[in-house]
Amino acid sequence: MPRADPRGGDRDGSLVSHNGAMRVVVLTGAGISAESGVRTFRDSGGLWEGHDVGAVATPEGFARDPDLVQRFYDARRRAVLEATPNPAHRALARLEETLEDDLLVVTQNVDDLHERAGSQRVVHMHGELRRARCQACGHRPAWDDDLADSPPCPECGERTLRPDVVWFGEVPYELDRIADAVSRCDLFVSVGTSGSVYPAAGYVALAATSGARTLELNLEPSEVAHLFDEVRTGPAAELVPAWVVELRGALTR
Ligand code: OAD
Repeated sequence: MPRADPRGGDRDGSLVSHNGAMRVVVLTGAGISAESGVRTFRDSGGLWEGHDVGAVATPEGFARDPDLVQRFYDARRRAVLEATPNPAHRALARLEETLEDDLLVVTQNVDDLHERAGSQRVVHMHGELRRARCQACGHRPAWDDDLADSPPCPECGERTLRPDVVWFGEVPYELDRIADAVSRCDLFVSVGTSGSVYPAAGYVALAATSGARTLELNLEPSEVAHLFDEVRTGPAAELVPAWVVELRGALTR
């Protein structure tokens, strides 16, 4: 789709350009899965399910106590398998039906609730719980079983599988593709993220300096809320479907 207005909207604040063309990037965080019963990271006082994040989400923590870390992610994987998408995930899947390649969901979440809701254009910048990564050969097989009992890698046979999640101190996935999409979008929307982990927290600034309109949908204003053109507060399962109805209506006018 061609771009009509580089800010993706009229200067009066409308989110859609005159000919309805729009490229949209939606950045999601733990808050979008909260109403599916998947716990967020920072809402419980810096602890993640009762664990210090440094112990279970760093390469150093894994080197110190691999068994603890594997069991921790095994439990998270089982919880995600039992969770189901909520109206916010489903609304983004509906939006993709309208926008197709003009919508990219960039998620920091390691669950697969976007995909199970029907979204196909999803980038998991922090990896995926339902995938393992072999530290010997780099193979990344789909994985729904526990890893704590050190199963062999299906590719090389070594017992060196770890969860395919990005830990602090490691480089997130697909950064070039994300930066390209963010810098070329007309509308950047952030959903359910505290804005405290970079590079994701920096995407609003990249979008804004590239000329996009920016919107935050979060339970409370995030740490980077002041950088957005508009901030709406409330639960994602209410805010996201309402925003998608609004946007789809404007696009089809
Ligand atoms: P956080 O736990 O830091 O933030 C969750 C955000 O969601 C907060 O701002 C909450 O106010 C908001 N929230 C909670 N419930 C909500 C609801 N029902 N509807 C809307 N918003 C809600 O999670 P993230 O920002 O995703 O990284 O954390 C970013 C990264 O830090 C994670 O991907 C993970 C973590 O350490 C890695 O593992 C590398």
